[in-house]
Amino acid sequence: MDDLITIHVTDLKGQEHEIQAPTDMGLNLMEAMKANELPVKATCGGMAMCATCNCIVKSDHDLPEMSENEEDMLDEAFVLDVEGSRLSCQIPVSKHIDGLRVQLGELTDPEA
Ligand code: FES
Repeated sequence: MDDLITIHVTDLKGQEHEIQAPTDMGLNLMEAMKANELPVKATCGGMAMCATCNCIVKSDHDLPEMSENEEDMLDEAFVLDVEGSRLSCQIPVSKHIDGLRVQLGELTDPEA
């Protein structure tokens, strides 16, 4: 299918997953990872209010600018203050992120 993109996700155990996500369903990256059964807590359901969907972007894709809410949320938790740190719920699934590489952040762990 034309409108499927591929995203590479490294989970908290260091295991790599290649997931596919449709670009025509209005999904964000957090939802795409959850739909592929990756363990992402995402407590607030995508409102940029919990940071438990955090990921570290490892490839140099041009991503949408961070909103003020996203920046504030990432600032609050010092563990998230690393280069490439983003809230996956704030990254729309689009052709622009085809081939994206991310690593799940440590706050995403549903067991924690
Ligand atoms: S799901 Fe809560 S900030 Fe992304």
